[in-house]
Amino acid sequence: APSDPDLVERARAAKERLGSRVFVLGHHYQRDEVIQFADVTGDSFKLSRDAAARPEAEFIVFCGVHFMAESADILTSDAQTVVLPDLAAGCSMADMATAEQVAECWDVLTEAGVADTTVPVSYMNSSADIKAFTGRHGGTICTSSNAERALRWAFEQGEKVLFLPDQHLGRNTAVRLLGMSLEDCVVYNPHKPGGGVSVEELRAAKMILWRGHCSVHGRFSLDSVEDVRARVPGVNVLVHPECKHEVVAAADYVGSTEYIINKLEEAPADSKWAIGTELNLVRRLAGRFPDKEIVFLDRTVCFCSTMNRIDLPHLVWTLESLADGKVVNRIQVDKETEHWAKAALERMLALP
Ligand code: 13P
Ligand code: SF4
Repeated sequence: APSDPDLVERARAAKERLGSRVFVLGHHYQRDEVIQFADVTGDSFKLSRDAAARPEAEFIVFCGVHFMAESADILTSDAQTVVLPDLAAGCSMADMATAEQVAECWDVLTEAGVADTTVPVSYMNSSADIKAFTGRHGGTICTSSNAERALRWAFEQGEKVLFLPDQHLGRNTAVRLLGMSLEDCVVYNPHKPGGGVSVEELRAAKMILWRGHCSVHGRFSLDSVEDVRARVPGVNVLVHPECKHEVVAAADYVGSTEYIINKLEEAPADSKWAIGTELNLVRRLAGRFPDKEIVFLDRTVCFCSTMNRIDLPHLVWTLESLADGKVVNRIQVDKETEHWAKAALERMLALP
């Protein structure tokens, strides 16, 4: 639906009043009505770098989800304020690993005698607490666009990786890009005593995968791939690595949101694409490339409900409040957590 013209005008006017004091970042999964006001758009990795590269902006308005705004706060200076237009924009995957659960897991690994040789690698989609845990234990953060490099680095530091919290990105990267087998991976279930894995399994595993997943990408199945191949002959299946292993194995191309966009930019006219990622992005791409046939990988719609919480009314309220001198919805990570989370994030930014 087209955006309300009154709200569009108010957002524009508030942004103009703020001028270079504000910088608006928009993740690719954001609604069109929000994306139109983003100074930059990107995947999680690009946005973390873009946030850090704007020291002159007093306010960073992050149109994305909570863990992204936390990461921006960690990577920006104390003089800068990071704002999330709706505090309820969380991420169900990030919520699947709490600090207590991860501390308990580390105790299990310690008792099994494997903690000393295990390097934690945490997906960007995790709370600042989990990033701090990762930094404290010498690990790194990764995103879907650098998971391979992060894992290669980690296996130079130790024999095993504890991958948090997305089991699919961990498994897909290990198997597809590092040539491991499915048997090299075990899943640690935080809801079971001892993670539901035996000491022998932990000792034998190379990848210890946290039992977390993205509910949006988890909806794509092997059936969705087979169904679209039958419906659209000659279709290229392009999916995000948060999809299940069997979906990724059956796809033609796999990559981050930025990769997906680049792939379609390069694609010849008349080519056909089925995209397995969040729907706002897929719809925007279909509108942007009318010469290509671009369909959603599944027959049922699936937005990321928390990404969608950031809408134009929330953005207008945020920008007008800031322009009136009132800071709302500030995301601020405490100093101790920030110190260690930053160590892990900087290790990621320094990956070769
Ligand atoms: P990327 O933008 O890094 O591909 O991540 C997708 C995602 O799920 C963000 O929540
Ligand atoms: Fe989290 Fe999935 Fe939404 Fe990304 S798409 S923010 S991983 S729930």
